[in-house]
Amino acid sequence: MNALRTELEDLHSQVIEWRRHFHKYAELSFREFDTSDFIEKQLKSFRNIEVSRPTKTGVIGTLRGSGAGPTIALRADIDALPMTEANDLPFASVNKGAMHSCGHDGHAAILLGIAKLFAEKTDRLNGTIVFIFQHAEEVPPGGAAELVEAGAMRGVAEIYGLHLTSNLPTGTFGLLDGVLTSATDRFDIAVVGKGGHSSQPEQCVDPIVAAAQIVMGLQTIVARRISAYEKAVVSVCAIRGGEAYNIIADEVSLSGSVRTFSRELRGRMPALIEEIAEGIAKSAGASCKVSYEKGYDSVVNDAALTDAVRGAITEWFGNGAIQELQPIMPGEDFSAFTEATGCPGCFVQVGTRNEAKGAVWPHHNANYLMDEDGLLYGMGLFASIIEKKLLTKPR
Ligand code: NI
Repeated sequence: MNALRTELEDLHSQVIEWRRHFHKYAELSFREFDTSDFIEKQLKSFRNIEVSRPTKTGVIGTLRGSGAGPTIALRADIDALPMTEANDLPFASVNKGAMHSCGHDGHAAILLGIAKLFAEKTDRLNGTIVFIFQHAEEVPPGGAAELVEAGAMRGVAEIYGLHLTSNLPTGTFGLLDGVLTSATDRFDIAVVGKGGHSSQPEQCVDPIVAAAQIVMGLQTIVARRISAYEKAVVSVCAIRGGEAYNIIADEVSLSGSVRTFSRELRGRMPALIEEIAEGIAKSAGASCKVSYEKGYDSVVNDAALTDAVRGAITEWFGNGAIQELQPIMPGEDFSAFTEATGCPGCFVQVGTRNEAKGAVWPHHNANYLMDEDGLLYGMGLFASIIEKKLLTKPR
């Protein structure tokens, strides 16, 4: 086993401790005040790292090596979700209504571990590492775009990120060259009718019936308007309207989300939704207004970087540790670091599933548990990439 791996194993218990600290004091998106202060404090306690706070709760550490090689960014998101933890753990979240059920506590701890590891190796570092602790991944417009806006990616030649996942067993890495995550958009539809007495619908325009038809009509987008070779989801997730059992409502509002993988199809979606909603509303004598809001772009993994990651993982963990992925539906604002800047990136899934430890729950579930052995593999991923790209041999 190489020396770096041994050093990581020595750091593992420290990283678990950090992860548990973040877990216990979980904070919501854009409000990661204690979390970011803790990260800043840790980074400053390592040698050689310049720390900056370009946004209220985002933290960036810069580690300059002795060589003039490229600048590589490693990114961790740090926010929790608005839910209350169901687990009875000694480090369960004490912040009611905030829980690290997506594993971002682990992401932040892993990146701190990597910062600590390489902070002692600037003499062997042929280039610069930028550690991006990104706030607010869970809530669009997301923290990544803000950090890019604030100049976090200036001079960065490549960026890497990871997500721990209970979909893959501990010890494995999910890789995909190309489009990895869906683009995540939102729509809202207001259907306006004319309210009145329930016994005299002929004097009214019932927006509830029109809205119901619109919900059904939207189902035909995926079923009838899109090629079977394309992937998309259109979900209506909220309906609001009506007050009483005997009053026909004035207005109904619908909200929903759209997931797509191809840019071309994403571009067609607003018009398809508008055409169906407006057409149905008109046929009912109602009117309707559709608003469409773009969320995160798809994460698109660069071919050359993915190839390099494949090589790095294989060197450290063997070829059997790699699982080839299919595109996944959950969105990710890691895309903002690459789409807006043109910087190539690679985003890797790292397994933390372990049946023996009960670490099998889906993310965003109040029972979510993480196999903390997966933290070691997360560190291994970043360390093997940096070793391959920037580290010179020990003298
Ligand atoms: Ni997440």
